[in-house]
Amino acid sequence: MRVALLSPAEFRAAMPRLGEILADAVVGGAGVSFMLPFSAAEGAAWWAGVDPAKKQVFAASQDGQIAGVVILERAWQPNQPHRGEISKLLVHRSFRRKGIGKLLLQAVEREARAQGLTLLNFDTVAGSPAEAFYRSLGFTCAGTIPGYAYSPDGRLDDTAIFYKQL
Ligand SMILES: CC(C)(COP(=O)(O)OP(=O)(O)OC[C@H]1O[C@@H](n2cnc3c(N)ncnc32)[C@H](O)[C@@H]1OP(=O)(O)O)[C@@H](O)C(=O)NCCC(=O)NCCS
Repeated sequence: MRVALLSPAEFRAAMPRLGEILADAVVGGAGVSFMLPFSAAEGAAWWAGVDPAKKQVFAASQDGQIAGVVILERAWQPNQPHRGEISKLLVHRSFRRKGIGKLLLQAVEREARAQGLTLLNFDTVAGSPAEAFYRSLGFTCAGTIPGYAYSPDGRLDDTAIFYKQL
């Protein structure tokens, strides 16, 4: 399994597969912005709106097939030059529990440190498998916001705010 930062050209070429991975997460019940029904084409359309000049997209691949993805975005605010946000950490269901999510987060942390970032943050659905995953990798939960967003099938979920000081 190889994790790499995608160049803008690699990112564009990967869009259909990234769309599949996003749709797979939504169909699997993950709270990652979208509601059911949600197709791979809709997923690819969302990725098409991501500007690789502003967001760094990392992909984990095996034998040429992308298995997982994550975005690192430096805070734009001039008073937060040390902060980065993680989003859309997605591992296709057929590749889960093989350490790929961990490899992706480690790559993000390495890149964040190399850029001089000292704080990473994001939010995730409270009580979800993703919450257990982030806790297992040393992220701290600062608290939860009740009734923050709907799950793909329409339940109102709380969100957990996570951070890590690098
Ligand atoms: C969260 C996610 C990225 C984890 O990816 P993964 O490749 O399966 O995770 P890893 O195999 O690297 O897991 C590392 C550790 O995290 C913990 N973990 C991962 N998935 C877990 C789960 N479903 N339940 C409990 N703990 C879990 C375990 O401690 C695991 O180590 P172990 O397998 O040796 O027990 C993946 O489940 C996913 O894509 N979920 C849907 C999308 C999502 O919710 N993303 C987060 C949005 S913020």
